[in-house]
Amino acid sequence: MGGMSHIRNIVILTGAGVSAESGIDTFRAGANGGPSLWEQHRVEDVATPEAYARDPDLVLRFYDMRRAAIQTKEPNAAHLALGRLDREWARKTGGQVLIVTQNVDDLHERGGAVDVLHMHGEHLNAWCAACDARHRWTGPLIQRPPCPACDEAALRPDIVWFGEMPYRMDDIFGALREADLFVSIGTSGAVYPAAGFVRNARELGARTLELNLERSQGSAWFDETRLGPASELVPAWVDEMLGS
Ligand code: OAD
Repeated sequence: MGGMSHIRNIVILTGAGVSAESGIDTFRAGANGGPSLWEQHRVEDVATPEAYARDPDLVLRFYDMRRAAIQTKEPNAAHLALGRLDREWARKTGGQVLIVTQNVDDLHERGGAVDVLHMHGEHLNAWCAACDARHRWTGPLIQRPPCPACDEAALRPDIVWFGEMPYRMDDIFGALREADLFVSIGTSGAVYPAAGFVRNARELGARTLELNLERSQGSAWFDETRLGPASELVPAWVDEMLGS
């Protein structure tokens, strides 16, 4: 992207495609053929408050499995490059980078990023429905362990399910208002409100860039779309931005 000298503030939205090359399945089957079913259930039928009320064991088993799986994975070149941008951009330009991720893994943090907003929650947190406390949680929840704060057996994954409000929307819109550049990486543009950020960013005056394996549902809204694997596109783009 030319003319990057006028860019100070950057908002980066990431999705499952950023973690795909770390071996974490994406949600929707695409060109790379990620699995879209889990034990014959669509993800949309497991990741809801209604599914949890109907069959909590099914839902807890799904999240216990994913929580265990992410702890065996490592950040890939895309996470590492974004971590480098996040650490170096402010010092180089005086501007800001905010990584807004739909991902519930911790690979951005392990890739060296400091400012990560998990709008859909985090696998490595448990949230107590009784006392509202959040706890870092690496083990299973299926045996209904007591909440370390209130002792109730009311812990659930700290994940934003379909029909629930994503976290920190005010902070996200505050950052979009200040953004000169909005970059979307590895997301299908199927799930709102995140899928609408590109239009919000445009209306608020930002340039918009998409990096994705294939065209997404939102591609038409971006000033520029680059197609390819995140592990190649993201380090190349970060090199451009940092001029290295
Ligand atoms: P999706 O699975 O819907 O989309 C992943 C996108 O990444 C697709 O467009 C793929 O083409 C692309 N992709 C796959 N491999 C890639 C690679 N190696 N490099 C670059 N791109 C690649 O995942 P999300 O858009 O993140 O919500 O899904 C959004 C939300 O839906 C998730 O946060 C989750 C899910 O239900 C919750 O859990 C609340």
